[in-house]
Amino acid sequence: MTDVTIKARLDGPLLVTGPIVLTDHLGNQYDLSGKANIALCRCGQSQKRPFCDGTHKSCGFSSIEVAPTPPAAT
Ligand code: FES
Repeated sequence: MTDVTIKARLDGPLLVTGPIVLTDHLGNQYDLSGKANIALCRCGQSQKRPFCDGTHKSCGFSSIEVAPTPPAAT
């Protein structure tokens, strides 16, 4: 089984790498054939939602959150 990785880009989209199925709210699948990875918009301003079209660069979108550090092993 191949892993799927979702990486939150700084001030940008969610970069999804690996085999996934992406559907709309009706369950219709997006054609992702031939794509090794996709970028999902999280700024809400893309004209190609759910995909990123680069608008986050000009709309002032900011995302500085980071994953919490796991507690130290004892
Ligand atoms: S995150 Fe790139 S257009 Fe929204």
